[in-house]
Amino acid sequence: MSLDMTDTMTLTVTERIDDRGGIARIRLTGDDLPSVTAGAHLDIYLPDVDLWRQYSLCSDPAETGFYEIGVLKDPASRGGSVEVHRVAQPGATLKVEGPRNHFPLDESATKTVLLGGGIGITPMIAMAKRLHALGKDFVLHYCTRSQSVTAFHDALKAAPFSDRVVFHHDDEAAEQKLDLTRDLPAPAPDTHLYVCGPQGFMDWVIDTAEAAGHATGNVHREYFSADVDLTGDSFEVEARASGVTLTIGPEDTIAKKLAEHGIKIDVKCEEGVCGTCVTDVLSGDIDHRDQFLTDEEREDGDQMCVCCSRGRGKLVLDI
Ligand code: FES
Repeated sequence: MSLDMTDTMTLTVTERIDDRGGIARIRLTGDDLPSVTAGAHLDIYLPDVDLWRQYSLCSDPAETGFYEIGVLKDPASRGGSVEVHRVAQPGATLKVEGPRNHFPLDESATKTVLLGGGIGITPMIAMAKRLHALGKDFVLHYCTRSQSVTAFHDALKAAPFSDRVVFHHDDEAAEQKLDLTRDLPAPAPDTHLYVCGPQGFMDWVIDTAEAAGHATGNVHREYFSADVDLTGDSFEVEARASGVTLTIGPEDTIAKKLAEHGIKIDVKCEEGVCGTCVTDVLSGDIDHRDQFLTDEEREDGDQMCVCCSRGRGKLVLDI
């Protein structure tokens, strides 16, 4: 592993398992891997398509010899996952940043419910391993379309916490499907829920949990992709420290328009889920389109994701 000033690492693919459901389980290693906490992800750079993509670690946070990620090959996406499947062959090297953790586990909880939909299972596996090591009370609900596309199925069946894993498959009997009325515990200050998966799955879980009385701060969420509408009415952006004022057109994004004028803001996911592009806002009416900022952060009105969010009238940015 090599580290530069931006904590970029070059990691080597040591193992790849093409698991069920088009999911590649990829192990990456290097010397002196930074330690991780459950819920952490890596940013992986894909030079041939010039994209950064984020992948949650599913390896045990206590593991020091390698990181493991699971990548769903999704031809409908913008090409990142297809490219990872193409290039991540044993022996290949990947440019990586991180690990970072925007989805940390509250280890003080007395009860934890992990809810993974499809490839959203990956951070939940790391969390389950950590909670098991801590001897905590937890359950992992894993929802997929069918057992035949359920990656990690055999590993979870063999895990020392397998009695805490509940599989739910869309194509099986109704009574084994996730029933949030039945499967969520009663709300309590020390009961925490974690959800990751497709947007519809997440919206359903979050809305149901909050309607049932679970505090928003106890319903932890990580979006791995989002259908984000980047378009809207034109507005003005002043980059105050740079002395530049621009008009952002209906099809423009702030980050791209600023880059055209030599003001570079780091962007990775370009869909409001990773937080890389969060920028301080000095004034203006923000039209948040991201999934990254919390409701409290939005209400503060002093930061925004410039890869996707927009404004009304004029925004003044602290750049
Ligand atoms: S680049 Fe990921 S949130 Fe903006």
